[in-house]
Amino acid sequence: MIIKSKLVDAMNTQIVSEFGASAQYIAIAVYFDDMALPELAGFFYRQSEEEREHAMKFVHFMLETGAKPIIPGIPVLRNEFESPADAVQFALDQEMRVTDEINNLVSLAVAENDHTSNNFLQWFVTEQVEEIDTMSTLLQTIKHANGNLLWVEDFVRRNPQHEGGGEES
Ligand SMILES: [Fe+2]
Ligand SMILES: [Fe+2]
Repeated sequence: MIIKSKLVDAMNTQIVSEFGASAQYIAIAVYFDDMALPELAGFFYRQSEEEREHAMKFVHFMLETGAKPIIPGIPVLRNEFESPADAVQFALDQEMRVTDEINNLVSLAVAENDHTSNNFLQWFVTEQVEEIDTMSTLLQTIKHANGNLLWVEDFVRRNPQHEGGGEES
């Protein structure tokens, strides 16, 4: 096994977090779908696909390096929200937490002198910048809309970020 055993444990914990985020985004998508807001629903269904891809990046990396990934069950999720802003704030908080988790993984890789893991993790460091930016922008848009959710729908339709794994030009 190329990577350090402490990283294996920490990556298995991160797999729980990424699959959990994937399921949580479906719950948020369903909240918007149920409100007849298809663009916001679509945005979160796409986010869910991305989080699944994040989890699978860890799974494949671990298999490649001779580590054993553990596939977890779905954790308890939040399905009720006070408002669209509350749902998106919850998503942003989740992204902030994941960013901390990724930073902690990098710190552990450095401390363990595990450059193989560190190199792999740098993709996630970059990805989280985009994730926080996207979610912060959506939250600001909802606040600017001041209750006009059809305007938010139009904004999301014109800015369909995150087409399942990045839109490099
Ligand atoms: Fe993620
Ligand atoms: Fe994310």
